[in-house]
Amino acid sequence: MIKIKSLHHLRFHVQDLKLSEKFASDFGLQTVSGNAETVYMRSASSAAYNYVAERSSESKLAAIAFSVDSISDLQTAVAQHGATPIRMVDGPGGGQAVSLHDPDGLPIDLVFGIAEHTPEPLAANMVFNFGHDKYRKNQAQKLAQDGPAQLMRLGHVGIYVKDYARCARWYQDILGFLLSDDMYAGNPNNKICGFFRLNQEDMPVDHHTIFLMQYGKSDLHHMSFEVQDFEKQFVCHKWLLARGWEPVWGVGRHLLGCHIFDVWMDPNGYRFETFSDTDLFDTHYKPGSYNVEGLPVDTWKDGPAERYFGEMPEEMKKSMLAPQGH
Ligand SMILES: [Fe+2]
Repeated sequence: MIKIKSLHHLRFHVQDLKLSEKFASDFGLQTVSGNAETVYMRSASSAAYNYVAERSSESKLAAIAFSVDSISDLQTAVAQHGATPIRMVDGPGGGQAVSLHDPDGLPIDLVFGIAEHTPEPLAANMVFNFGHDKYRKNQAQKLAQDGPAQLMRLGHVGIYVKDYARCARWYQDILGFLLSDDMYAGNPNNKICGFFRLNQEDMPVDHHTIFLMQYGKSDLHHMSFEVQDFEKQFVCHKWLLARGWEPVWGVGRHLLGCHIFDVWMDPNGYRFETFSDTDLFDTHYKPGSYNVEGLPVDTWKDGPAERYFGEMPEEMKKSMLAPQGH
């Protein structure tokens, strides 16, 4: 089985490269290198880049790239799973890569050996005074800062799939993801969405690195970057509104994974998200299964699920647009 280390970057074809870079920059990504055809942008993490935009006649996802543990993972992908031959990566930090597709045809790249850089120092944590426990005494905390949140790392993607059962098997059996929670419509055997995390043995990892949802199409739904806390998300929300970008949903909190999220639409129709305060699980966590009917998208407020997920196929409307159970 292939061993995925992390979600490394996403590559897009975009019609307007400058506008795409402007949005990503306002969102908090920093340009590593670029020219009239391609731009590479990074977060504060050690990854050489997390976002690649290439000028094209059509805006679409070009690939979701995962980094793997060793070169043998690339060799396994080629020998056993129909991946393209190993190639050198043409980008900052070099490295090697192969390409393959999930069962719905979504393009997946596996990368190895892309040189890392020193991560940026992170801002100091807020000090909280909770109802019961007070940690800030004789200390005046000053927080308000305009601008984007510091994007600590690329954390997860949400993916639309046509055949959930088949794709869920593929991401588990071929790429080694572990199921954290799934959702069903009506019959508990009728699974339609699932959250999958990395297998890092005893090291707790995010509740999900990929979210798959059956939706009648194969595409990226959103990409999400971890930020320090909800304070930064609210400040960033105000910043992006002032810059004239389109909010999708948030700031809110998901029930499953329990993370705080804030979602924005980029100029190419893809959602960029920040998240903070997610559940962490090691391999011992037993997956949960939930009836999607009445499951809130956001525990802090109600809203039409279509606002978050996009226009829905009929079977999703019946289940997800049912009255919310809270
Ligand atoms: Fe997300």
